[in-house]
Amino acid sequence: MLNQIDPTQTQAWRELESQFDQIKNVHMKQLFENDPSRADKFKIELENIYIDYSKNIIDSDIFDSLIKLANESGLSDAIKAMFEGAAINQTENRAVLHTALRNRSDKKVIVDEEDMMPEIRKVLDQMKSFCQQVHSGEWKGYTGKKITDIVNIGIGGSDLGPYMVTEALKPYKVEGITSHFVSNVDGTDISETLKAINPETTLFLIASKTFTTQETMTNAHSARKWFLESAKEEGHIAKHFAALSTNSSAVVEFGIAEENMFVFWDWVGGRYSLWSAIGLSIALNIGYDNFEDLLEGAFEMDNHFQNSDFEDNAPVILALIGIWYNNFFKAESMAMLPYDQYLHRFPAYFQQGDMESNGKYIDRKGEKVNYQTGPIIWGEPGTNGQHAFYQLIHQGTKLIPCDFIAPAISHNPISDHHEKLLANFFAQTEALMKGKTKEEVTEELKSKNLSQENLDKIVPFKVFEGNKPSNSILVKKVTPKSLGALIAMYEHKIFAQGVIWNIFSFDQWGVELGKQLASNILPELSGDNNVTSHDASTNNLINKFKAYR
Ligand code: F6P
Repeated sequence: MLNQIDPTQTQAWRELESQFDQIKNVHMKQLFENDPSRADKFKIELENIYIDYSKNIIDSDIFDSLIKLANESGLSDAIKAMFEGAAINQTENRAVLHTALRNRSDKKVIVDEEDMMPEIRKVLDQMKSFCQQVHSGEWKGYTGKKITDIVNIGIGGSDLGPYMVTEALKPYKVEGITSHFVSNVDGTDISETLKAINPETTLFLIASKTFTTQETMTNAHSARKWFLESAKEEGHIAKHFAALSTNSSAVVEFGIAEENMFVFWDWVGGRYSLWSAIGLSIALNIGYDNFEDLLEGAFEMDNHFQNSDFEDNAPVILALIGIWYNNFFKAESMAMLPYDQYLHRFPAYFQQGDMESNGKYIDRKGEKVNYQTGPIIWGEPGTNGQHAFYQLIHQGTKLIPCDFIAPAISHNPISDHHEKLLANFFAQTEALMKGKTKEEVTEELKSKNLSQENLDKIVPFKVFEGNKPSNSILVKKVTPKSLGALIAMYEHKIFAQGVIWNIFSFDQWGVELGKQLASNILPELSGDNNVTSHDASTNNLINKFKAYR
């Protein structure tokens, strides 16, 4: 079980408060000048991943206090508890074992006195053989044709992970397979997808841990209906629908044969499920061997997280730096900025990963916290973001710590695109850190022969204060393995933060109320009667909706 330590009552927290007072007006430029070895001190080198965290407003004493905070919070015990299968998701009384899904060692993983590894390997074998059958054409549709299109129907963790990874690993795509992802209950999502596919050659994967999620079941039923309009016979469903779920009875009730079901377990959280059977759409898209490499990369990160000292531990250091800004500088958000078009869904994926995990105001004692917990996560790929919202990061009134992520080697090395892309990455981190002083601006403008009066007017607008923090994460190349490691690194960062904030990171009660109310409202939307059962605003909205139709 996890302990219940209020982080603000630790000695480290008090030290950090006074260190914050001392450093809050110090410029990072100064920190670099004071310590020529700073960039070598504040970096981590893993296999094919280089992390520079020297462009943060920290010094060695602050770093030591942050490590002390992790120690005082019992992070080591928490890591051990998670990997050993303790029921650390206490509000649901469940273990948290997405790490078991990518355990590539012989080590047993025990849940309720049973080793889960044979079951996990069985499902992986099932996925492997299914991929092989689909890719070879041995698996045929109801008219004898090869499958060409895979439609993953799921939402949240049953969509975001598979979609993000499929996009990130496009260069590894199996020829002859096109993947589609339908998530929104908005009929437009499924309708537009159905327009692009042929029922004879399409395989639908209904991805839902619970197999009760309204959006997914609605889309699944529409897909089934659409399919039967062509195929006519229910018996053909077996060749075109598979389920990825923990809920066998609901799958059978839907009409999917049990042999077309790929199971996982309640100790896999929805937003941590891409490593499970939920990853079938990934394996079908990039090939099973590449899917295994993804697991391998995550496994390596798991080992790094478990075995490295906190001083050299990438997820722990990223977590601590995040806490430093969140709780001491009062930063409200953090930006994830992938300089890789293939990673365009990475920020969206970690919006759920982070915000659904750590967006909690009740601590592990069941009491309201009196400090900030999870930040707002947002971002877009560079350089598009530069031409959209970087203005605010550079000269706005809010502090926005940024993670820059980029591969050194591009999958598309045409002309000098990649050099230009990376030049922008490096330039942005430098500009954010250094800024541009009044003197520098004046000097630059003088060379343009501006009159003194015009110069005085324009200078304030052109000054950049700088001192904006960032982490730089340089990956050799985005491969299944390095992507697996990157994802696992952020997963563990989120976990470490949750432990220190004394919250439960693996439940998501906050999404329930909206779901409940929506199911109350749904029946009220049909019929002509005036709705009066809600607050005045909601009543008006519902009645206006009905009047418009
Ligand atoms: O949004 C709440 C949530 O439970 C997520 O945690 C989950 O990823 C998503 O819904 C989908 O759930 P399921 O896989 O059960 O359909």
